[in-house]
Amino acid sequence: MHPLKIAVGLMVIIGLFAGLSHLFTTAIVPPSTSTSTEVTADRGIKPPILEEITALINPVPMSDTVMAEGKVLYLKQCAVCHGEKGKGDGPGGAMIVPPPTDFTNKVFQNSRSDGEIFWVMREGIPQTGMFSYVPRMISEEQAWRVIHYLRSL
Ligand code: HEC
Repeated sequence: MHPLKIAVGLMVIIGLFAGLSHLFTTAIVPPSTSTSTEVTADRGIKPPILEEITALINPVPMSDTVMAEGKVLYLKQCAVCHGEKGKGDGPGGAMIVPPPTDFTNKVFQNSRSDGEIFWVMREGIPQTGMFSYVPRMISEEQAWRVIHYLRSL
């Protein structure tokens, strides 16, 4: 076969493959387009959370000390985006789409279990400003302290 024909054939195959894989990835991971600060019941639950994680109960007993430590950790690690009072209005979150969740929102507080919050802190939310914090930035134990504090916002 003529080398030019082989080259053209290869290009067609590569082109097809690139086109198909593009279709495939965009179909599986739709780009995040939400710009609203509204919290909905399914927001943040990506990737799907395993049932046993949703059902996890905070293993750290609540106390004044735990609450105070949770607050210190929150202010250090989370407030830059989620805001000092948890309203999702931190300076680091101002330009992010979707915006950081407002933890004072009742829909958030009522629709997320402690386990789901823990999961998000561990896995992050792909394609958003919400990175994985556990165990890179804080330990699992510390995460549960932060969760106690989050519940008070
Ligand atoms: C760099 C900015 C940034 C920081 C810092 C950050 N987050 Fe987030 N977080 C986000 C964004 C943006 C979202 C919203 C993602 C979405 O709506 O899909 C989010 C979402 C979440 C959610 C999911 C809320 C829901 O709707 O279920 C939880 C829980 C959360 N963050 C906890 C934390 C905790 C705890 C910390 C500190 C350890 C933290 N975040 C630090 C940006 C941040």
